[in-house]
Amino acid sequence: MPRTTASAPVLSASAATTTEPTAPSAAALAALLPWFAANKRPLPWRRDYQPYHVWISEIMLQQTQMDRAVDYFLRWTGRLPDVAAVAAAREDEVLKLWEGLGYYSRARNLHAAARAMMERHDGRVPEAMEALLALPGVGRYTAAAVRSIAYGRDEPLVDANVARVFCRLFDLDAPAGEAATQRELWRLAGALLPPGRAREHNQALMELGALVCTPRGPRCAACPLAPACEARRLDIAPHRPVPGKKKDIVPLALATGVLVHQGRVFVQKRAPGDVWGGLWEFPGGGVEPGETPAQAVIREYMEETGFTVRVTAPLTVIRHGYTRFRVTLNCFALAMDGAPPEPVLTEAVDWRWAAPRELTALAFPAGHRKLLDWLAARPPLPGLEPWA
Ligand code: ADE
Repeated sequence: MPRTTASAPVLSASAATTTEPTAPSAAALAALLPWFAANKRPLPWRRDYQPYHVWISEIMLQQTQMDRAVDYFLRWTGRLPDVAAVAAAREDEVLKLWEGLGYYSRARNLHAAARAMMERHDGRVPEAMEALLALPGVGRYTAAAVRSIAYGRDEPLVDANVARVFCRLFDLDAPAGEAATQRELWRLAGALLPPGRAREHNQALMELGALVCTPRGPRCAACPLAPACEARRLDIAPHRPVPGKKKDIVPLALATGVLVHQGRVFVQKRAPGDVWGGLWEFPGGGVEPGETPAQAVIREYMEETGFTVRVTAPLTVIRHGYTRFRVTLNCFALAMDGAPPEPVLTEAVDWRWAAPRELTALAFPAGHRKLLDWLAARPPLPGLEPWA
């Protein structure tokens, strides 16, 4: 892409190397706050910016689309209206409220952070940077979001939306994720923050990134910053930020099965320490080379529970993705001959023989929840009550 340097940009990153933004920068950004006032979405935590609400929303919004986050936020705060309620909740309940959002360490960290807030901060979300950063799951971005959005403190922040807006505005030509680019982005965010307006300014930048300065097909004609935007001037907005190295997608063949005995199914609760720690599941695991999925599920049951099972029917094949994995989950109906012995758990910390209707109260990883939904939409397996 040829670069023209004929006319000086209205804004330039190099013009902002001093700690104060230059006069043209401030003028160019002046359109941002009125744009936000006119275009902001009526999100539930924007009613009164309660610190508890801002904290929960910011954790949910990491890796989650806004519409989904709003649904989960309303359900969560309906059940757990304040820090004390989160701290008093059982981990099972917290994980159930998070079920389907993925990245479950976020839920476990919320739980641990609420308990820390009860101990150290009288049940309040702290305001001091150091106190926020000491909480599980709170990094530089989340601490800055809570301080600026909940407490109105002059705290700059950079998330993926802000990074994209600045990479275009200043035509930064290195991937946004690189350490040097991140340093520059945070420096710019600090230099451009209008004192006393951090709550609106930070949200305005993120909202602009979410609604107008979108990853694909940015709507430059609707952008209040278009007159100042260097990438727009060069007609390269869709090519900023410069893409980083793509992570390889890894296919993963898994097998699992629903073991039925006397009207109940066997489920186990995963041990802490991996992404699904604390969630319930049907035993199962990876299909090894040279093995069929049916052989894999029989072997996995033996390894994880000591049960000798047999396949009574193939059920379905579920495809889903998480992080960089594309999972093919081969699902079977299983049975055991004779009375089941006490399981010998190697991957789990708890187990139960559950009636199908009891499973709605437990949190399952996405693939297993999809299997349950698939089962619920069909006549029950032989020997079982309906699932729903
Ligand atoms: N608008 C878009 N993303 C946002 C976030 N994480 N916080 C506040 N406002 C936003």
